[in-house]
Amino acid sequence: MDERLISSEELQEDNFETNIRPQLLNEYIGQTEVKENLDIYIKAAKMRNESLDHVLLYGPPGLGKTTLAYIIANELGTNIKTASGPAIEKTGDLAAILSNLEEGDVLFIDEIHRIPRFIEEILYSAMEDFTLEIVIGAESSSRSIKIELPPFTLVGATTRAGDLSSPLRDRFGIISKLQYYTVEELTQIVKRTSKVFNCEIDDEAAVELATRSRGTPRIANRLFRRVRDFAIVIGNGSIDLKICKMALDKLKVDSLGLDDTDYNLLKAIIERFNGGPVGIEAIASSIGEEQTTIEDVYEPYLLQIGLLKRTTRGRVVTDKAYEHLKIPKNMN
Ligand SMILES: Nc1ncnc2c1ncn2[C@@H]1O[C@H](COP(=O)(O)OP(=O)(O)O)[C@@H](O)[C@H]1O
Ligand SMILES: [Mg+2]
Repeated sequence: MDERLISSEELQEDNFETNIRPQLLNEYIGQTEVKENLDIYIKAAKMRNESLDHVLLYGPPGLGKTTLAYIIANELGTNIKTASGPAIEKTGDLAAILSNLEEGDVLFIDEIHRIPRFIEEILYSAMEDFTLEIVIGAESSSRSIKIELPPFTLVGATTRAGDLSSPLRDRFGIISKLQYYTVEELTQIVKRTSKVFNCEIDDEAAVELATRSRGTPRIANRLFRRVRDFAIVIGNGSIDLKICKMALDKLKVDSLGLDDTDYNLLKAIIERFNGGPVGIEAIASSIGEEQTTIEDVYEPYLLQIGLLKRTTRGRVVTDKAYEHLKIPKNMN
């Protein structure tokens, strides 16, 4: 398998993803608190006939931020326009996006932490009083003009809320953190996907797949697709526990959902840094991964399942990690 199961970048949207994406809040599984709050805010905005307050969604990749942005627009009954932080390179890029908005629109900006600071400032007045202030003309004759914008809702998504400047963060009325999903919730997601694709999966197999999906719906769906391939070619087309386990083992996804990079990371800390504490830069360079990938994708899950601990002096591997990797703990 050359395609990595875990990736910080979103893979190209294909039919598979589009078909399984829930469209409404009540189809969106888990994240109960976030969902309940949004439901109230959306209803209130509709009753007052006002635009919904700006929403910031943050959390690791694949937990459903983009999905939720589309659901918000659907529930509001408005249109969604999308943009992505890294693609906004000039003030004019953002000005063009903003001046294109229509009343009530949801503007979804993915990876919003990657908008350069000097451009970001344009968002402040746009978010606060729906005005767009831009400077036109060359230096000597430059002047600033104000354009009124229709009321809109900015939905921002980010894997790193900490990278957002505080003036920007403060302008979001609703800030929601998405959590890793429980095995029960992921099991429901897997079953839903199996219905959409008309490919049966039995209860035990669904739980097994959910357990090995790192708390992440995108991974659950991706693994489902792979397991389905095995079921079609080797089995009778439906997924049972045996086929599921065989496929996941072949994909080198272990019983906790860890892949090669997780193993390299934990082993590096154990073997080269005596179990830690060790700084993130040293870990990154010793396994040849980007620091941000480790921080956004790998580390949060390892922390969540208790294989890694964060201390003031750096990252430490836990006893549970030694056990899981079957490495005896060096007592000296
Ligand atoms: N709460 C959920 N219920 C059901 N499916 C979900 C849920 N959250 C995410 N998914 C599925 O996982 C995939 C990845 O979600 P996405 O919104 O793209 O994640 P993010 O934007 O946070 O990286 C989606 O295609 C969707 O099918
Ligand atoms: Mg996304």
